[in-house]
Amino acid sequence: MTDARDWEGGVGRNWAAEWQRTDRSFAALTPRLLECIAQQSGVRVVDIGCGAGELSIGVARARPHAHVTGIDLSQDLLAVAAARAEGVPNVSFERADASRWIDPDRAPDLYVSRHGVMFFDDPPAAFAHLARASMPGARLVFSCFRAVEENGWAAEISRLLPPAPPPSTPVGPYPPGPFAFADPEHVRHCLAGWKDIAFTPFDFSYVAGSGESPVADALAFFQRIGPAAFAIRTLPDSARASFEKRLEELVRSRLAAGQVTFPSAVWLVTATADHR
Ligand SMILES: C[S@@+](CC[C@H](N)C(=O)[O-])C[C@H]1O[C@@H](n2cnc3c(N)ncnc32)[C@H](O)[C@@H]1O
Repeated sequence: MTDARDWEGGVGRNWAAEWQRTDRSFAALTPRLLECIAQQSGVRVVDIGCGAGELSIGVARARPHAHVTGIDLSQDLLAVAAARAEGVPNVSFERADASRWIDPDRAPDLYVSRHGVMFFDDPPAAFAHLARASMPGARLVFSCFRAVEENGWAAEISRLLPPAPPPSTPVGPYPPGPFAFADPEHVRHCLAGWKDIAFTPFDFSYVAGSGESPVADALAFFQRIGPAAFAIRTLPDSARASFEKRLEELVRSRLAAGQVTFPSAVWLVTATADHR
């Protein structure tokens, strides 16, 4: 589970420090998502959970007559995004909770997101708000992970971990986190206020390590991002050493042609605001 408070704090800081590697992990997805976005009209674009800004900047460059606002909770990520966007006149960034944010001047006609919509505490309320705050007929395009078993970077690492203790407070079947939107039926339920909801599966190679020392590069990445990072922070010393050894073996086994890669599977989701 990763929630708003995690993103405002340490998780956001880690993603800000690792933005080149997180962009690289999504490198095969981003052009496909941009292609899907290019099929939608819209001049007032909002990137939900924009993180370090790669998608916001890509959309702004592709539509010079539009304005793109990237919204995120993490000040650390927004600082990276703003620095990267220098010289791109039609993009700006704001620190806000997207589930409450309203533009007082001009309602969005297109929402986009690369994996930024799975962390709301109350997704139906958040999406109903986004629909209400948009122009009639506004479009929504986002990517999100499919099931953990289809995402080797998470499933294969999770198999190395000791069984997690049961949560101290009960959580529902889809707690906020990277896999919260894996089930299309659940996503349909979350997309309150939206119609014409469509799902397109897309599979790609998630690059965890490359360059001169791809294994060391992947291990450095996993120290900060994903299920290994959480384990390394929280396991007792003895269990951590054994986990790190097995993680290194796993990473070595995934090295081919100078890159450490894992299978990854996402949904590309599109929808239209329903203002009835
Ligand atoms: C998995 S990261 C993806 C970041 C970025 N879109 C990318 O592709 O690199 C999820 C992002 O959503 C942001 N986020 C989570 N909940 C949010 C909320 N309620 N409002 C705004 N941003 C949120 C996080 O701070 C984080 O930057």
